Amino acid sequence: MTQQYFKAAIFDLDGVIADTARFHFLAWQSIADDEGFSLPAVVDDRVKGVDRMASLNIVLEYAGRTYSDAEKEALAAQKNERYVKLIAGLTPADLLPGAQLLLDRLRVDGIGIGLASASRNALPVLKALGIFEHFNTIADANYISHPKPHPEIFLTAADGLGVSPADCLGFEDAEAGITAIKAAGMTAVGVGSAELLREADDIVSDLTAFDYDRYFRTLI
Ligand code: G6P
Ligand code: MG
Repeated sequence: MTQQYFKAAIFDLDGVIADTARFHFLAWQSIADDEGFSLPAVVDDRVKGVDRMASLNIVLEYAGRTYSDAEKEALAAQKNERYVKLIAGLTPADLLPGAQLLLDRLRVDGIGIGLASASRNALPVLKALGIFEHFNTIADANYISHPKPHPEIFLTAADGLGVSPADCLGFEDAEAGITAIKAAGMTAVGVGSAELLREADDIVSDLTAFDYDRYFRTLI
């Protein structure tokens, strides 16, 4: 079989490039604390890649009572305020291992770089990490109507890059994200646990373990 070289890389943000998944979870935990219930550790994985309101619905499964729509809106807003405070001090040191080197190599090799993030905070996070300029296109929750596992966000990023989905390699740490990449007709690299990301075509524990030459043609 001849080797397929990909023309674009499309990244999820939280938990793939940015060490921010823990801040989402901390913010949810503080909401649960205030409401008088506790969250099991499994919620950390369950809210990965899931948009804000859907994440809140997962969190409230542990509350032991139902909440009105108005209460939910208020809690989602509070969670975001706390998350925004937690990420206020982000610097390039909060990039996950291997992210900077991979983005730099892709840029040198002229590979399209896209973002597909469910977070409405994606832009300030990219800027704080000092990697905003690396991205040729950004698809975040502000521009799409169907959340992951729907493929829309990855297809929007591919469209923005002008690359066909079959030529795109997607990177995700969330189950819903891997499903979205596959549904978009792309090849999926799971970043994290092989047990959780079963549907991925390749799995790496973090981006330092990614085999660049297997997927991208190096110019120099
Ligand atoms: C990412 C995270 C999720 C989070 C979602 C929305 O996908 O993995 O845990 O709920 O973004 O983030 P936001 O910043 O818009 O609340
Ligand atoms: Mg993620």
